[in-house]
Amino acid sequence: MQRYGQLTGCAPLPPRWALGYHQSRWGYGNEENLRRDLRGFQEHNLPLSAFHLDIDCQVKHRSFTIDPQRFPRLDDFVQELGNAQVKLIAINNPGIQFSRQSNLCLQGLILNAFCTYPDGELVVAPVWPGRTVFPDFTHPRVRAWWSQQFAYLLEIGIAGFWNDMSEPATFVLWGDRTLPQVAQHYLEGRGGDHREAHNVYGLLEAKAAHDSIREFQPQHRPFIVSRAGWAGLQRYAWTWTGDIVSTWEALRQTVATVIGLGLSGIPYSGPDIGGFSGNPTAELYLRWLQMAAFMPFCRTHSSITVEPRSPWSFGEPYLGIIRRFLQLRYSLLPYFYTLAWEAAQQGYPLIRPLFWLDWQDSSLWEIEDAFCLGEALLVCPIVEAGARSRSIHLPKGRWYSFWNEAMFEGGQTVEVAAPLETIPVLVRAGSVMPMVEENRLILHLYPLDFGESCSHLYSDAGEGYGESRLDCFRLIRSEDSLELVWEQQGNYGFSYAGIQLHVYGLAVTQAWIDGEATLIENRQLNCSNFQRVRFAIG
Ligand code: NOJ
Repeated sequence: MQRYGQLTGCAPLPPRWALGYHQSRWGYGNEENLRRDLRGFQEHNLPLSAFHLDIDCQVKHRSFTIDPQRFPRLDDFVQELGNAQVKLIAINNPGIQFSRQSNLCLQGLILNAFCTYPDGELVVAPVWPGRTVFPDFTHPRVRAWWSQQFAYLLEIGIAGFWNDMSEPATFVLWGDRTLPQVAQHYLEGRGGDHREAHNVYGLLEAKAAHDSIREFQPQHRPFIVSRAGWAGLQRYAWTWTGDIVSTWEALRQTVATVIGLGLSGIPYSGPDIGGFSGNPTAELYLRWLQMAAFMPFCRTHSSITVEPRSPWSFGEPYLGIIRRFLQLRYSLLPYFYTLAWEAAQQGYPLIRPLFWLDWQDSSLWEIEDAFCLGEALLVCPIVEAGARSRSIHLPKGRWYSFWNEAMFEGGQTVEVAAPLETIPVLVRAGSVMPMVEENRLILHLYPLDFGESCSHLYSDAGEGYGESRLDCFRLIRSEDSLELVWEQQGNYGFSYAGIQLHVYGLAVTQAWIDGEATLIENRQLNCSNFQRVRFAIG
């Protein structure tokens, strides 16, 4: 993965908010519906980081438009969302309406921006806006022109863009539902046809969007989601698993797809929670959300043809469980963000197959209904209706339950409980799991049987390109004690208001913070900055 990252590039750090929960729907239609859902999030005490606008919010499905009749004061609305810490993401399709009424079409014609047949005739195909022409993103001039189009939306505070249909998709009745193979492309001056350009089309469209944010908002990290892409897409965009159906099979398939994308160098992806086309049962939506809470891109999205879907659609007891999972997602952000840093440095995916931890155990090779989030967490989604437990073959080593005091020895298959309230999540022995609660850093210590392990915590402002810090926590287990040694690097200040240490799997009787004896209750210790904490094991 490191070498592939060197070859095709690593995903840069996303803005931290992007690792929160996103809410989307094809069919929001207007500002009022979004506002109503915003109130829903607030009234139900659910965290939210972004809303996504789909094509129904545009004027006649035209890219770079947001209908002023239905969003009469978009700038104020973006501000209103911003006050609630919610970003707004706008959709774009590559195809441009082929019409003299479209300024974008007229500009593109003057720039010779659109793909043609070998005889010079424009390739025109049906897509959402009707008869549509297609920018040739393999031409740097076309990318530069496309990049300009985002400027006014960035200016009013749109925080990112969703490149849909970027294969490019067309609604043709026969043949490939994309551009004809003979469509001509500039290909950076070499010239060629769509057989060669197809895979890079979506990649280069994503580059144009990414470069636009870099140019017009250099203080912001780009957030682009692209439906299509190829080797290197990770440099510019996140992706998602497309228009999946609302079934248990599709939920199960999500795991393999997200693992596969990660191993293909694309660390940021996730599913439409609940499936795109169909109405999930309450249980299916819940199980999907419980899984997606541990995936990089955590977004509910659905088709215009199905019932509106939000985290409170199914009432209790589902809402309460969903709230706990979304809150857990935000508590886990220090861990997610550290993995994002690791992805940027090393090219490692956030979601990994189980054999990542022990490639010599061939029983792990075929597992495609469970995944690791980084090296510390093993997540076992529930992918069957009515299931209240599931089996999992554990990689070697000791594993702690994330939810209770249970412990499991690895290298064997175990059965783990999965009441509706949880899915099995296990923590690898040796991990120091960083979480946040009310601005306090909670370090969950999961000791090894014996020996030393090291866990990192990466932090910065969560946006922009300023200072950062790297905290390294060494966990040392010996016969009669457990020690936590803290080493700090970097100039970004430590931003948490306090620290709580939480020890698992051991009865700790006493603790010393930098040599000073201190009281410990319920295996929890509150402290501030320290170099070394020692726990006596009872
Ligand atoms: C296809 C996309 O995959 C889907 O997510 C979106 O809602 C529709 N296009 C409409 O824009």
